[in-house]
Amino acid sequence: MTSISAPIQSVPVRSTPIRSVPVVAVDGPVGVGKGTLCAALARTLGWNVLDSGAIYRLLGLAALRAGVAFDDHVGLAALAQAFAMDFAFEPRQGLVAALLDGQDVSAQIRTEQAGRNASLVASIPTVRDALLQRQRDFRSPPGLIADGRDMGTVVFPDAQIKIFLTATAQERARRRRKQLRDKGIDANLAALSAEINARDKRDSERAAAPLRAAPDASEIDTSDASADEVFAWVFAIIHAGGFG
Ligand code: C5P
Repeated sequence: MTSISAPIQSVPVRSTPIRSVPVVAVDGPVGVGKGTLCAALARTLGWNVLDSGAIYRLLGLAALRAGVAFDDHVGLAALAQAFAMDFAFEPRQGLVAALLDGQDVSAQIRTEQAGRNASLVASIPTVRDALLQRQRDFRSPPGLIADGRDMGTVVFPDAQIKIFLTATAQERARRRRKQLRDKGIDANLAALSAEINARDKRDSERAAAPLRAAPDASEIDTSDASADEVFAWVFAIIHAGGFG
C-alpha cells in the first residue's frame, strides 16, 4: 500500500496586525508655526501632544542646573536618560507647563538662549538615542500630534500622517518676534533673524537626525497663510487619511 502524504507546505505565520496608535508628525524649522498648529490639531481631535523641542529645552536647562558642560557628551547622554520631565496640557491652550524635577520652568525654557542650548544638546547623537524611547512613550490612545524636527523621519517613521511646514526666513523671524512680544519679551528683528538662521543651520547640517522632510511628508509653505488656513489644509490631509 502506498501512502501518499500531502506535501508539507510552509504556511507564513501571520500575526494579527495590531493597529498602532495614529501619529500625525509635524516637522519644520524655527518659527514656522508648528506649536500653534499642533495645539489646534490636538484640541480638535482630542489627541495627545508631544512637544519634542520642549524636551531638548528641558535637557539644556537640566544640564545647566546639574553643572554638566555642553561638550560633555557622556554626561549629557546620561542626563537625557534620567532627568525628570513632565508636561501639563490644557485642552484649550495646548502645552501650558513644562516641568523639570517637578518645578514649572515653562518661562525659562522659552528664551532664545534656551533654544540655542537645546540645539547644542540636540546635535549629540547619543543624547538623541537616549531620548528616542522617551519620546515614543508619548504615543498613547486615541492618537498623538508630534511636533519637532525628526518626528516623521526618525522618531515616528511609521506615522500615518506626515507634515513638513516651511516659510521664508524673514516671515519666520517676524512670527517669532510676535510670539516673544506676546509673552512680554522684546526682541530685535535683525538679532532674531541671525539667531534663527544659526539654529536652522545647526539643525539642518548636523549628522544625527537633521531637520529634513520625510520623503512621504506633505510639504506646506505657510509664508503667506494665516494660522487658520494652515490648520484647514492640514486638517483636510488628516481627514483624507481617515482620521478626524
Ligand atoms: O522646536 P523648538 O524651537 O522648541 O526646539 C528647540 C531645539 O531643539 C531646536 O532648535 C532643535 O535643535 C532641537 N530639536 C531637535 N529635534 C526635535 C525637536 C527639537 O533637534 N525633534
